[in-house]
Amino acid sequence: MGLNVTAGTAEHRGTPDPAVMEPLARILFGHAAFQYLNAGCELGLFDLLADRGPLEKREIGPALSLEGRAADILLLGCTSLGLLGKSGERYALGDAIRSLLDAGDWQRFKDTVAFEQHIVYEAQADFTESLRENSNVGLRRISGQGRDLYHRLAGHPRLERVFYRYMRSWSELANEHLTDALREIGVERVLDCGGGDAVNALALARSLPGVQVTVLEIANSVPVTEKQIINSGAGDRVRVVPCDMFADAFPGGHDCVLFAHQLVIWTPQENVLLLRKAYEALPPGGHVVIFNSMSDDTGDGPVVAALDSVYFASLPAEGGMIYSWAQHEEALREAGFAEPRRVTCPGWTPHGLIIATKQPPR
Ligand SMILES: C[S@@+](CC[C@H](N)C(=O)[O-])C[C@H]1O[C@@H](n2cnc3c(N)ncnc32)[C@H](O)[C@@H]1O
Repeated sequence: MGLNVTAGTAEHRGTPDPAVMEPLARILFGHAAFQYLNAGCELGLFDLLADRGPLEKREIGPALSLEGRAADILLLGCTSLGLLGKSGERYALGDAIRSLLDAGDWQRFKDTVAFEQHIVYEAQADFTESLRENSNVGLRRISGQGRDLYHRLAGHPRLERVFYRYMRSWSELANEHLTDALREIGVERVLDCGGGDAVNALALARSLPGVQVTVLEIANSVPVTEKQIINSGAGDRVRVVPCDMFADAFPGGHDCVLFAHQLVIWTPQENVLLLRKAYEALPPGGHVVIFNSMSDDTGDGPVVAALDSVYFASLPAEGGMIYSWAQHEEALREAGFAEPRRVTCPGWTPHGLIIATKQPPR
């Protein structure tokens, strides 16, 4: 890693248009903008205004146990970024936070903020080096010997809680579309590969009567999955099997293999390998389902897909990103699947589904 600093000697030739510079300045200070969002969440500023309605600074500071200068900074940042609005002396929630509250997604959003703050933020400082090395250099920020983030989480109970709370919330932002798609196909026995705390497995069991789900998880994370299954009372329909899905055979007897937020983690070659294992485990007519964020085939957005790719490049495993729809379809074809079908999910996250079928032999 080397810093190449040269003294600036170029002469000024006019001042760039501030309106043109505004988006670039927001990127320049993007890390600071995020810290206002995080502080507003952690200090309870947004929850305070959600509970009590518009308030003045003299009421907000004491309610958050902040000294005057600290309240000044927090309110200056959150208001100028549009997280809050200000009318006269009173501060109120901005439109975006208000609409998350109205949609019932505010806690899910806060869980995502906590994940970005406590797990993603520091490791992203290794993004450039991760691109140079074509590997997740940022994993060095999470101590342990495990080969990837997931194999290290159990050694960091606080991070593990933050991670699985976020994963649950991120899935819940869009998994009603997963449930709808599987209802339409008419699946009976689902294999949920790397199913996390069973958030999607339990959603499927709740919404699709008679459907059984097997969750595959690494041994380290099985206690997290088991706890949620027991708490849900759906243990007769959802079970977890300890399995390294790269090293171990996929269990048979399923008519659908689900990869939820999974194929964004691995390299294209690893994804083909996983999809081939799914193909072999399925009967003819069986389905594979990819459920995660997607980037556009044109390679220029959406911006959330691009920004989320920094995490996948820097931290969890050697190589992943928010791949395009077409890249997933190519991997599916390489693995033997036919007729991939796209399902876009409406919403502010770039979630989508691709469903493909193992064709019966001709
Ligand atoms: C990004 S999370 C997705 C969790 C869940 N599918 C969801 O959508 O909320 C990836 C999950 O894959 C699991 N995982 C990682 N490597 C695995 C492996 N080799 N075999 C099985 N599961 C694995 C991790 O432990 C983690 O829970």
